[in-house]
Amino acid sequence: MKDTPVPGKKLKVAVLLSGTGRTLDNFHREIEAGRLNVEIVAIAASSSEAVGVEKARHYGYPVFASDERSHRELSRQINEFILPYQPDVIVLAGFMKLYFMPENYEGWVLNIHPALVPAFCGKGFYGMKVHRAVVDSGVKVTGCTVHFVSPVYDEGPIFLQECVPVSAGDSPEDVAARVFELECRLYPKALSLLAAGRVKLSGNKVWIEER
Ligand code: GRF
Repeated sequence: MKDTPVPGKKLKVAVLLSGTGRTLDNFHREIEAGRLNVEIVAIAASSSEAVGVEKARHYGYPVFASDERSHRELSRQINEFILPYQPDVIVLAGFMKLYFMPENYEGWVLNIHPALVPAFCGKGFYGMKVHRAVVDSGVKVTGCTVHFVSPVYDEGPIFLQECVPVSAGDSPEDVAARVFELECRLYPKALSLLAAGRVKLSGNKVWIEER
């Protein structure tokens, strides 16, 4: 049974990644700068070739990487690795596989999607594909979404969501850069809110206690 995080104690975080690890870089930078009061206890990757694995090693975090193709088996291996570190929260940081969370972790697994869920999300919407679809559609705003993870890609209760503008002349790369800058602020904010015990999940609604 997962313990409830102890108020006032540092939140322990496990990070799951598949790619470049830019999100990990951001967390690491924020922690080092004293702006994010959490502790990264373990990293797991869905590819042994992921650049993020190298970064994690370089930063000195315990790392596990697997090239297992079955999502269920990959999740099992990842959980076997991270659970002994007793993470309070599991954070998907550019993790490209379907993740089956350990029992009792519902409400303690987060993902970030580089668009305003439920738009431009779901299977096939990842990386630059998202931003290309955004530009092609002619929408005037996009943004990013931090949400709790459910068994379906990019679904689950929406925790935080913010917008950035899109102009007719923007390239997908322009939009990607703008959105990622926002992600670098919003994901640490989500962790800080959880660490402060200010988040309540009820059905598909996420309540954030005002202070
Ligand atoms: C971000 O766009 C995020 O929204 C998505 O993965 C990207 C980050 O991956 N979930 P990485 O940290 O660059 O590997």
